[in-house]
Amino acid sequence: MVCVLIPATSANLGPGFDAVGMALSFYNEVSLGPSTKELEIEVFGDGAELISRDKNNLVYVAITKIFERLGKTPRNLKLTLKNRVPLARGLGSSAAAIVGGLVAANAYLGNPLPKDELLRLATELEGHPDNVAPALLGGVVVSGFDRDKVKYLKLPVPEVEVVVAIPKFQLKTADSRQILPAEIPFSRAVLNVNRVSFLIAAFCLKKYEYLQIGMEDYLHQPYRSQLIPGFYQVVEEAKKAGAYGVALSGSGPTVIALAKEGEAVGRAIKEAFLKFNVEAEIIYTRPEER
Ligand code: HSE
Repeated sequence: MVCVLIPATSANLGPGFDAVGMALSFYNEVSLGPSTKELEIEVFGDGAELISRDKNNLVYVAITKIFERLGKTPRNLKLTLKNRVPLARGLGSSAAAIVGGLVAANAYLGNPLPKDELLRLATELEGHPDNVAPALLGGVVVSGFDRDKVKYLKLPVPEVEVVVAIPKFQLKTADSRQILPAEIPFSRAVLNVNRVSFLIAAFCLKKYEYLQIGMEDYLHQPYRSQLIPGFYQVVEEAKKAGAYGVALSGSGPTVIALAKEGEAVGRAIKEAFLKFNVEAEIIYTRPEER
């Protein structure tokens, strides 16, 4: 039997839409072993009741991808999932499932495939690499397509605490991508290039105070914030409480803030959300380093 841990991830970090992602220090556990039955799937933890136990299970779909890539048929497998990454909240639950299945199946078969091939397969299943890349590689990763190839670079991992505020409602990535416009004004694109440049420079130079502007976004948050009551007020309160930078995590509804120390920021976010009748669970974590 093999057992792998796959981290939650936060994509975009504000202006790095579909390009930047950070692995966080809480994990889903995927165990894969032999079974006397054709297929056994057990699911525990977050959202367990919503996850399918048949061949449509996303972890199993990823497992199948590895077997097929190696010319094999998956048979007599027992899959046990212990989930900590909440579903459809912008914390990379589908990336964790896909990468979990790929890494577990690859390990089960003796690790024949290199990381780059796993990343290619993961991106094919997910559609964009910004969650699957940090889920697979850890840390903070810049990733994107060069024609049909996925390229990536790992950035220095920031020395910060990460406050993760998870509202008690789900938002599917597909729905929150649909709300985005086909075009944006040139001036807004220019501003976004400026902000993402500050984001990368702040990480590389450890000048985290520049995340105040480096995590501002003009591409997707103006639209997605309509689906998240009080979003900009939450951002302002978190900054007032000392956050370096605040952004929507992936496609939301989770908000993440990077801070020297997170406690006051977490309290401020919780209170600000409550003013809009949004209950949010606060997790204090750190970027995952590997
Ligand atoms: N970059 C993606 C988005 C991440 O914002 O839609 C969500 O999975």
